[in-house]
Amino acid sequence: MIRLNLQEDTSFEKLPVSVYANPEEASIVVASRIADIIRKKQLSGERAVLGLATGDTPIRVYKELIRLHKEEGLSFKNVVSFNLDEYYPMLPDAEQSYVSFMYNNLFNHIDIDKDNIYIPDGTLAVEDIPSYCIAYEERITELGGIDLQLLGIGRTGHIGFNEPGSGPSTDTRLVTLEDLTREDASSSFGGKENVPHQAITMGIGTVLRAKEIVLIAWGEKKGEIVQKAVEGEMSSDVPSTFLQQSNNVEFILDEGAAFKLTRFATR
Ligand code: GLP
Repeated sequence: MIRLNLQEDTSFEKLPVSVYANPEEASIVVASRIADIIRKKQLSGERAVLGLATGDTPIRVYKELIRLHKEEGLSFKNVVSFNLDEYYPMLPDAEQSYVSFMYNNLFNHIDIDKDNIYIPDGTLAVEDIPSYCIAYEERITELGGIDLQLLGIGRTGHIGFNEPGSGPSTDTRLVTLEDLTREDASSSFGGKENVPHQAITMGIGTVLRAKEIVLIAWGEKKGEIVQKAVEGEMSSDVPSTFLQQSNNVEFILDEGAAFKLTRFATR
């Protein structure tokens, strides 16, 4: 007897993908997964180490975490956070810095201990960056590693600021930004010419060492790169494909970002 497979065909997908109707629903799922880790660690008197991302995509997740703090008493006292990246050079109090982003969108609204916040320093002298990056990695290791790494994805296929060319064992380092990445950032800088050419970013290797990795993407604008990251062969041309190496990664998408996946595109 031939059985018809009425389920969507996910056989082209090289990592687990969950698709939600809209970014709001998906963000609530991601925030509650983060909250579960924080609470579980609280019960055993441990700290929760989070790897956090910037960009428009995680803003709704942060909003939900703030709501859980304000309305449901979720405390962040046991949380240590490491941000993925920062522009270089960049003053922390500049409007476009990832420090300002994180404080405005999350840290100012929760009870995290400010000493537990790590964001790459955009003010270092160039010669001090290599030792700073080694210390950033060491601090993550000393704290027991990242429990959950949240990621967005750039249209070049970057995670953090790991642009095409980045290999799977890269660590935290100074990198040069692609033209498309600088173009995508241009509106917040009042023109592409004002976007820094470099950034300090955790490496792909740093990300792959996290115990859980969650990549989020919304909207059709991300559809094409998400399809490459999920269904393409691993290659440094699309650095996010290296996430296929992790045995604890999940892509959480809305329908827009998923529309190019074979299971939807061939319907
Ligand atoms: C920047 C950040 C990335 C982020 C990407 C996508 O390049 N360094 O960490 O994932 O932008 O941003 P958005 O979420 O705004 O699309």
